[in-house]
Amino acid sequence: MKSTILVAGATGNLGEKICRDLLGRGANVRAIVRAESEPAKVKALQDLDVSVVEANFADASQLQSACSGVSCVVSALAGLDDVIITAQSQLLNAAVQAGVPRFIPSDFCTDYTQLSEGDNRNFDFRKKFKTVIDDSAIKATSIFNGAFSYVLQYGIPLFNFKDHTIAYYEGKADWKIDFTTLDDTAAFTAAAALDDESPRYLRVASFQVSPHDLATLSQQLYGEPFQLVNGGTMEQFSAYNQKMRAENQEGETELYPKWQQAQYLYSMFAAHHSSLDNSRYPDIRWSSAKEALQQK
Ligand SMILES: NC(=O)c1ccc[n+]([C@@H]2O[C@H](COP(=O)([O-])OP(=O)(O)OC[C@H]3O[C@@H](n4cnc5c(N)ncnc54)[C@H](OP(=O)(O)O)[C@@H]3O)[C@@H](O)[C@H]2O)c1
Repeated sequence: MKSTILVAGATGNLGEKICRDLLGRGANVRAIVRAESEPAKVKALQDLDVSVVEANFADASQLQSACSGVSCVVSALAGLDDVIITAQSQLLNAAVQAGVPRFIPSDFCTDYTQLSEGDNRNFDFRKKFKTVIDDSAIKATSIFNGAFSYVLQYGIPLFNFKDHTIAYYEGKADWKIDFTTLDDTAAFTAAAALDDESPRYLRVASFQVSPHDLATLSQQLYGEPFQLVNGGTMEQFSAYNQKMRAENQEGETELYPKWQQAQYLYSMFAAHHSSLDNSRYPDIRWSSAKEALQQK
């Protein structure tokens, strides 16, 4: 019998791609949307043959009926604590009540188990939800994919295309950073959702590159030198981030304030995968750094 997978956050960038990949793998796909979800995005899901259920996350019985007969809930929700802790917990409770055996939370990030509280505000929400899900009667699988590779197109200090500079932190010029494309993350997540044996953590990366590697690759691709710039020590970087956060309290209600973006960069240099689960589903072809940079 075909498995039914419930996707929350299916109207989002990652969630929509996960739905496509699940359908491609022959699953029945159900998506929870909200009354306030954009109608065009909801229609796009229906056009794909996703069965769309509108639910209010505060209504336990609506969520529970959305979870009925489901073998795995995949959450690709994005937001602050009201989403990552509160809404995901509401969904988790409904899944447990409905007897759903498995749940993939909306982690999709650097391996936060290697990071300390305060290093990254948005990861702290995920750590908090981890304690909730690990205490529940459901089998959880978190997918750690490092950074989405499209961040390399944002002109971040790590890859400043305009100034031709590449930032590194002391002793970290050869530190490998995990990057995964959105497409590869979605493909892997769909395979994991259909894999009843998947473990608590799966660590993947389309490619792992150091600041040095990025400089070499950029020279090859663009024929122009990129300068490595020393951003100081990791201790200084951490202290700077703490100061920026304390001085910019308004960012506490924003998903990606400037200091949060700096915390993501810090996390890339503070945690990385020592081994990868990329080969778990052999049909997945992983993108290269060259392909990701050429998407510019
Ligand atoms: N590793 C990385 O570099 C990286 C980068 C970006 C994102 N991510 C992660 O990837 C995951 C998906 O992100 P994304 O960029 O695909 O997000 P997105 O495009 O912003 O989509 C967010 C989804 O969450 C839903 N949502 C938001 N608030 C909600 C609420 N209060 N209740 C219920 N649903 C709500 C939205 O539904 P509506 O349409 O109803 O609003 C939408 O479907 C997140 O965990 C995010 O942190 C990782």
